[in-house]
Parts: sequence; structure tokens; C-alpha cells
Amino acid sequence: MANASPRSVLVWDLPTRAFHWLLVALVVCSVVTGKVGGNAIAYHMVSGCAILALLLFRIAWGFVGGRHARFASFVRGPAAVLAYAQELLAGKPAAHLGHNPLGGWSVLGMLAALALQAGTGLFVDDEIATQGPLNKYVSGATAALLTTIHRMNAKIVVALVALHVAAVVFHALARREDLVRPMLHGRKHWVGDADHGHASPILGAVIAAIAGGLVYILVTL
Ligand code: HEM
Ligand code: HEM
Repeated sequence: MANASPRSVLVWDLPTRAFHWLLVALVVCSVVTGKVGGNAIAYHMVSGCAILALLLFRIAWGFVGGRHARFASFVRGPAAVLAYAQELLAGKPAAHLGHNPLGGWSVLGMLAALALQAGTGLFVDDEIATQGPLNKYVSGATAALLTTIHRMNAKIVVALVALHVAAVVFHALARREDLVRPMLHGRKHWVGDADHGHASPILGAVIAAIAGGLVYILVTL
């Protein structure tokens, strides 16, 4: 039977929240240092590689993390996405404890664009003084292509982030739904049945350490 009184439910586990806010800081740092160029590129490469480690962590966490961090819980088929879009147009979207069906795809889109950005960054050649750590393994033509993709995809990353922040603001203003605080403390008030999003922070730390180690090995090859 559905639980009728509101209660506090853990939605975003600690590793997911740490991932999010670290990602925000590092993406801002990468975009600014990438644009500034010059000496800032040294910091850019470090923050870009840290993003790569965060992405590896998030992919693993999408399989073993808390209920609402798992891809299986928020990647929905076209029927669910269409139904949610129709609810949205009608001004009556159903509340979702974790990511809504549209938001789930925007999360995947951001993760994919960031993976392409960090992945191509490894092979970049600015034709002045800086090469990505794996640049030596590809031909000049391949490096030039990957550098072009890196520069163009940076705009896509910025556009997706702007859309993401606009969606969060829309929820706050038009729907009076505060999504930001739950991303800080992890909890939402919820009426009805709900699965807790708990997952071991120690497991999260171990996976993050492995992801960091793998990226370190990759860039020092
Ligand atoms: C560089 C900037 C940002 C990036 C790359 C980014 C990326 C992401 C990603 C990947 C997720 C999915 C979290 C997960 O399941 O792992 C997410 C969720 C979320 N982000 Fe951001 N984010 C950014 C900035 C922000 C800012 C500035 C805010 C606050 C105003 C914000 C608020 C949120 C919220 C509330 C969610 C949860 C959405 C929901 O309830 O479904 N994000 N973000
Ligand atoms: C998701 C992470 C990353 C973001 C958001 C990012 C973003 C950017 C941006 C905005 C630029 C300037 C492009 C322009 O001139 O318009 C840039 C350039 C550059 N990035 Fe990244 N980057 C990331 C990861 C990396 C990584 C991992 C490396 C290498 C380890 C790297 C190496 C470089 C280099 C060397 C340049 C200068 C290329 C040039 O403009 O000639 N980036 N990046």
C-alpha cells in the first residue's frame, strides 16, 4: 500500500553528489583554462584528466551505485520520454524521485559529450608547444582531426551545460521544485513508496581511486 505521509528519502548517494560538484568545478576550470590558453594549458590538462577519471567512476557507479545513480533506474525508452514530454507540454509533469525520463537522457548526453571532450584532449596538438599525453601514438593528420573535434565539441559541452542549468532553473521557477538542495544534501521529501538511494561511500572511494589510477597509468604510458 502506498505511504501517504511525506517523508525524507535519500535520493542522491554521497559519491554521486561528490561526483557532481567536483565535475562542475573541473568543467568550469577546463573551459576557462582551455580558452585562456598559454601557461593555463598545463592546468587545463590536469583538470581534463581529472574529469576523465570522474567519468570512469560515474560509468562504474551507474552499475553498482545507489538506486537512483544506476543507469537502469533512469535511462528510459522512447515511450516514457514521449509521455513525459506530453505531460510537460500539458503543464502537469509527474514528479520523479530520481532523474525524470527526459533528464535521464540529458545526463547521458552530458556524460557522452564530456567523454568525447576528455578523450580527444589526450591526442590534441596545439601546433605551438603543447601535445596531449597520447599524441605521440597517432599520426599528425589524426591529431589535427582530433584537435578540431576537441575545439568544436567544447561548444557542445558548454551548450549542454547551459541547457542543463536552464532546466534546473525552470523547475525552480515554473514548478516550484527545488532540485539543487537534494543534490547538496541528498534527500527529498516524498509522498508514497520510494526506494532509498543508499550506497556505500567506501565502495565509491575505492572505485574513484581505481579510476584515478587507471587514468594516471594511461597518461604516463
Ligand atoms: C559544469 C556544469 C555542470 C555539469 C557538467 C553538470 C552535470 C550534471 C550531471 C552529469 C548530472 C547527473 C548526476 C548523476 O546522476 O550523476 C547532473 C545533475 C544535476 N545537476 Fe548538474 N551539472 C552542472 C552544473 C550544475 C549547476 C550549476 C547546478 C545548480 C544550479 C546543477 C544542478 C543539478 C541538479 C539539481 C541535478 C539533479 C537533476 C535531477 O534532479 O534530475 N548542475 N548535473
Ligand atoms: C572534459 C574536459 C575538457 C574540456 C571541457 C576541454 C575544453 C577545452 C577548450 C574550451 C579548449 C579551447 C578550444 C578553443 O580554442 O576554442 C581546449 C583546448 C585544449 N585542450 Fe581541452 N578540454 C578538456 C580536456 C582536455 C584534456 C584531457 C587534454 C589533454 C590532456 C586537453 C588538452 C587541450 C589542449 C592542449 C588545448 C589547446 C588546443 C588548441 O586550442 O590548440 N583538454 N580544451
